[in-house]
Parts: sequence; structure tokens; C-alpha cells
Amino acid sequence: MKAPPARVVELFDRDALNFEEYLQSPLGRLRTELVWSGLGPVLRQDGATHYVLDVGGGTGAFSLRLAQQGHRVLLLDPAQGMLDLATAKAERELTGKARDNLRVQKGTVTDISLRSLSQQFSIVLCHNILEYAVGPQLILSKIRQLVCNDGLVSVVVANRDAEPLRTVVNKQDPDAALQLVDKPVHPSTLFGGYRRVYSLHEILAMLDEAGFSGRNVRGVRVACDFLSQNLLEKREGWNSAFALEQELITRTPHKYLARYLHILARPHNQS
Ligand SMILES: C[S@@+](CC[C@H](N)C(=O)[O-])C[C@H]1O[C@@H](n2cnc3c(N)ncnc32)[C@H](O)[C@@H]1O
Repeated sequence: MKAPPARVVELFDRDALNFEEYLQSPLGRLRTELVWSGLGPVLRQDGATHYVLDVGGGTGAFSLRLAQQGHRVLLLDPAQGMLDLATAKAERELTGKARDNLRVQKGTVTDISLRSLSQQFSIVLCHNILEYAVGPQLILSKIRQLVCNDGLVSVVVANRDAEPLRTVVNKQDPDAALQLVDKPVHPSTLFGGYRRVYSLHEILAMLDEAGFSGRNVRGVRVACDFLSQNLLEKREGWNSAFALEQELITRTPHKYLARYLHILARPHNQS
């Protein structure tokens, strides 16, 4: 099985701090909170302690909060720079039992050492990593082996159908937008290199092939990427944007044009 190429890991290593800054920015916080608003109800459903694998968990945006809530979390990432930031944040923000709830490990789901963890996890997070992976289908298939039969995978990917709209509005460049229609690979502004963007149809087909039924589709950041930084930096502006996004996140057709698609999917045998 393929590990991510050294060049990809190098980019994430180098740009870990940039990513953390993005997470703290108004748009980054909207992404985290909107994805979290989809996960929260699932976590609260049975009140159980979940065993969570955060694949490509980065600087711990989701892992730390899950650990804080009492869930047992394994954050897995191939980039040391990301892991260092996640560990430093955990030392600052988590205390006592919550800190024990979090394990941080260098690697990917395709690592042999994970074989012993087959069907161990009730929830697997796969948030914004398939854009950068060489073998995204392989990653989803591996995740299916790791998640238990009544478990759940939470997948976030950049939405291909959002890209032309973002470009024409934000760059005022219809020619550039036209080039992006149906284009699966785009330059990555945050990390350099390239990233793959997914149509809803494509990611659902991939999940299906891996053994998941993905019917809970949410659209993360439908409108707020078109707002000014000034407005989003003000607390009331951010709160209003969040309220609007929460309203649109499950609405058709709005969610289909969101910046990110968030899909909560269960193994086939559970549907
Ligand atoms: C955009 S960041 C997302 C981090 C985190 N999931 C989040 O949502 O905040 C992408 C992460 O995926 C990791 N990554 C890249 N290729 C990977 C692969 N093939 N397998 C697992 N993780 C990978 C990177 O090191 C990086 O930390």
C-alpha cells in the first residue's frame, strides 16, 4: 500500500503553522464549527464513549475537542510539523484525563502497524485529507476495515462545484472560472503543490465502493466565503455568518455549492 509521497509530507511539515493560522482565522473557525455542528448530534446520540481515529488529524482541530469531551482519540498524521503543533496544543489545553484520552501518532492509515486495530473505531474522521492523497480510494477502503460495523465515517472534502463560483466572485475573473468547471485538480493556495477537488457524485461513489452509504450530506460554507474579512472579523459579523450557514448547511440546492462537502456515512450493513 502507498504512503503519501515525501514531497506531500514535506509541504504539510513546512506549512503546519500556516494551517494553524488558517484554523484560527474567521473562515477557518467557520469550517471547524460547521463541521462540528454535524458531528455533535452523532456524538450525543447515545452518550457513549467513542473510540475515534482522526486520519490526517493535522494540528488537532477535532481530536482535542473530542478528547476533552471524554472520547478516546488516536490522531494519526504523517507530517511531524502538524503533530508537534497538535502535541503542544494538547499540553496547553488538555488536563488530566482529557490528556490521557488523546494519542498522537506519526503515520497514515495504510501503515502496517494499524492492522491490529481492525474494526476498533466507532468513529473515523477523514477531514480534508483526500484532496492531497495519492490513493484516496485506498484510504477510504482502509478506513472501512478500521471502523466497526455500527460505526461512522465523517468525510470532509473540497467541493469541485464551488470552485468556479468562488473564482468568478472573488477574483472577478470569468475566464479563470470557466477553466475550473469540472476540473478535478487545482493549485493549493494554502500548502503549495496541488489538491484534488471532488464532486458530490464522485465522493459518494467512492464511499460506496469502499463499503459506506453516505446519505447525510452537509454543505460547509455556502455563502460566507463571499463576505468581507472586515465583517467576519467582528464578533457579530461572524455570529451572523455562522447562523446563516447553519440554516443553509442541509438545504437543497444551497449545500451543493458549499466550499466543502461534509458526509457522514455508515458501513453498508447498517443502512
Ligand atoms: C488540510 S490538513 C487537515 C487537518 C485536519 N484533518 C483538519 O481537518 O483540521 C491535511 C492533513 O492531511 C495530512 N495528510 C496528507 N496526506 C495524507 C495521507 N495520505 N494520509 C493521511 N494524512 C495525510 C497532512 O499531513 C495534513 O495534516
